[in-house]
Amino acid sequence: MKLLITGGAGFIGSNFILYWMKKYPQDQIVNLDKLTYAGNLENLKDVEKNPNYQFIKGDICDKQVVATAMNGVDIVVHFAAESHVDRSILSPEEFIKTNVEGTLVLLEEARKNKTRFHHVSTDEVFGSLELGTEDKFNEQTAYDPSSPYSASKAGSDHLVRAYHRTYDLPVTISNSSNNFGPFHFPEKFIPLAITNLMEGKKIPIYGQGNQVRDWLYVEDHCRGIDLIVRKGKIGQTYCLGGMTDDISNLRVAKMIAKIMEKDLDNLEYIKDRPGHDVRYAIDWTKAKNELGYFPQFSFEQYLKKTIEWYQEHEDWWKRVKSGSYQDYYKKQYGDK
Ligand code: NAD
Ligand code: DAU
Repeated sequence: MKLLITGGAGFIGSNFILYWMKKYPQDQIVNLDKLTYAGNLENLKDVEKNPNYQFIKGDICDKQVVATAMNGVDIVVHFAAESHVDRSILSPEEFIKTNVEGTLVLLEEARKNKTRFHHVSTDEVFGSLELGTEDKFNEQTAYDPSSPYSASKAGSDHLVRAYHRTYDLPVTISNSSNNFGPFHFPEKFIPLAITNLMEGKKIPIYGQGNQVRDWLYVEDHCRGIDLIVRKGKIGQTYCLGGMTDDISNLRVAKMIAKIMEKDLDNLEYIKDRPGHDVRYAIDWTKAKNELGYFPQFSFEQYLKKTIEWYQEHEDWWKRVKSGSYQDYYKKQYGDK
């Protein structure tokens, strides 16, 4: 099988390529990535010389590049996106361009040969659940995005579904909760907290830190996508979530500080994110019943492993935290 992975140099895409090439070494992978600030080929150095792996530097909005990359491909697994909520609040345009227009370009090319298309999306398209309830998102939950990022992902989900209904394109969609694990870009909460503590800085907590996320270890997400690619029903959406009970951001920060043997003076409450979704939780019963999906990694255990990964890969995140990241950090957090 030949797969086109878009955004394969990012956090989840690179984990997915490493996962796939280990599990299915006979398959061919083409990785199309623009290498924005979030793309990092260092993540893929274990496979870069593998004859079954090919990297194309290019933009999913570029029709020519997409046509070349999709040549002879059996399935597209589409990760490429602008993915950071806070950046989308500072400047939304790029999110609409990549996440909506870029997805459209890929779908148009896929339509020519009815290429199987898996779209990687997010639970953020559903908006926010209430704190203190047992409610969970599932495949029937109405779309209600809060940020320019989640609105752009919602737009891309609708396009993918429309291409199935209108043109019979063989698509599937996954909406997953917050991932964590190796190669997570250190502007997202967990890697930011870990690396800030390692740099002697504080963990910034938005508002009171009472917001809840449904943390999913990235390898479990990759396994879920693998199941959908191989066994998912065409035209269907699957929600993929983790094994956590409700854990607030404040509790996550305290857990990180405790594991890293830092005291709680290292937590700093700052201005809340505008339009901040307070709670996410995923009901993954459909993926379990139809595909046998089950997250294997507990948050507590794998948070510790993730911290160890950052401690062992200081070179990786120090390089990532330089460059354009510095400008963003200043805009978002001032001189803290
Ligand atoms: P990321 O920001 O780490 O990586 C995105 C990758 O896409 C980068 O390598 C970047 O260079 C590339 N890219 C961006 N614009 C591009 C363009 N125009 N053309 C080609 N490549 C481009 O993101 P991630 O966290 O790995 O997320 C991957 C996907 O999973 C996204 O679609 C995101 O919406 C979705 N998702 C992420 C999470 C999460 O917790 N991170 C959870 C659910 C869903
Ligand atoms: O739910 C899936 C989504 O998870 C993905 O679609 C997004 O691509 C991904 O970035 C992530 O979005 P979040 O906004 O939930 O992730 P982030 O790591 O930015 O923030 C997690 C929580 O931590 C959120 O409630 C905001 C809070 N936070 C974040 C940062 C960066 C802080 O309290 N302080 C911070 O400095």
